[in-house]
Amino acid sequence: MSESLKGSVILITGGSSGMGYEMAKELLCRGASVIITARAGRRLDEAEKRLSEFGGVGAIAMDVTSEESVRAAARWVEENYPRLDMVVSNAGIGGNAPGMEGLPPGHSFWDIPLRSVRAVMDTNLVGFFIVAASFAPLMVKNRRGALVYVSTSDATMTRKGQLPYGPSKAGAEAMARIMADELRDLGVMVNIICPGGFTDTSMASESTKEFFRKNNMPVLPPTVMNRAIAFLASPESAGICGEKLVGRDFGQWLARRGISFS
Ligand SMILES: NC(=O)c1ccc[n+]([C@@H]2O[C@H](COP(=O)([O-])OP(=O)(O)OC[C@H]3O[C@@H](n4cnc5c(N)ncnc54)[C@H](OP(=O)(O)O)[C@@H]3O)[C@@H](O)[C@H]2O)c1
Repeated sequence: MSESLKGSVILITGGSSGMGYEMAKELLCRGASVIITARAGRRLDEAEKRLSEFGGVGAIAMDVTSEESVRAAARWVEENYPRLDMVVSNAGIGGNAPGMEGLPPGHSFWDIPLRSVRAVMDTNLVGFFIVAASFAPLMVKNRRGALVYVSTSDATMTRKGQLPYGPSKAGAEAMARIMADELRDLGVMVNIICPGGFTDTSMASESTKEFFRKNNMPVLPPTVMNRAIAFLASPESAGICGEKLVGRDFGQWLARRGISFS
C-alpha cells in the first residue's frame, strides 16, 4: 500500500476496538500518524500496542462524555503535534449501554431504563458535540481539516426497537450537517460515514450476532468503512462537505461521481 497519507495527523475516538480500530490500522498503513482515543483501560493500551506494528500511533485516554477529559486531550494534541488534519468521531454505544443488556428481545420503549437513554445520548450525541467543539478550533486555526461523524443507516434512526440508539445518531447527524455549513468556509470539511448494515464488532451482543447468522442476514466486517475513511483523509476528497458515505456502497458512490480512488 502506498504511503499516500504521510505527514497527516488523524485522531479517531473509539479507536480501541471494532471499526475505529480497523480505520486506525488502515490510515497507519497509508502512512498517517494516528492518535486513538477511548476510555482508560486495557482495551486502549492493547490496541495501541497492536497498532504500533503498522506505524506511528499514539493513544490518549479520553471519555467523550467528559468535557474536562476531551478538552485536556485537545490541549495535549495541540502541544504535541505540529497540526491536526482530521478527527473521526467514532466512539459510540448502543445495545451495550449500561442497563440495556438485560432487556428481553422485543421489549417496549418504556422498559428502557432512563440511565440507558442518558448514557446513549451522552456518548453518541453530546459526546460528538464535545469532541467537535474541542478539536474543530485546532483545524480552523490552520484553515484546513476534516471532521467525520460515524453514524448509522437512515432506516435505523426510526426503526422500531431502536430507541435510544437511532435518535441519538439522527440528532448527531443533524449536528454534523449544521457544523458542515458553519465550517466549510473556514476550510474544515465535515462529512458523515456509516457501515451500511449490521457490523461484527463488540457493540452487538453475541445473541444478536447469532440471530443474524441463523437467519442468514448479512453481517458486515469491521473493515467496511476503511476505504471511505482513507478517501476522506486524502487530497482526492478536497471540497467534499456535508456528504454521507456508506461503507458498503462506497465503490458505487465513487463510480457515480467518476472518481477513481484505491
Ligand atoms: N456495529 C454496528 O453494527 C454499527 C452500525 C452502524 C454504526 N455503528 C457505529 O460505529 C461506531 C463504532 O462502533 P463499533 O461497532 O466499532 O463498536 P465497538 O467495537 O464497541 O467500538 C466502540 C468504541 O467506542 C468507544 N467508546 C464507547 N464509549 C466511550 C466513551 N464514553 N468515551 C470514549 N470512547 C468510548 C469504545 O472504547 P472503550 O470501551 O475502550 O472506551 C470503543 O473503542 C459507533 O459510533 C457505532 O454507533 C456501528
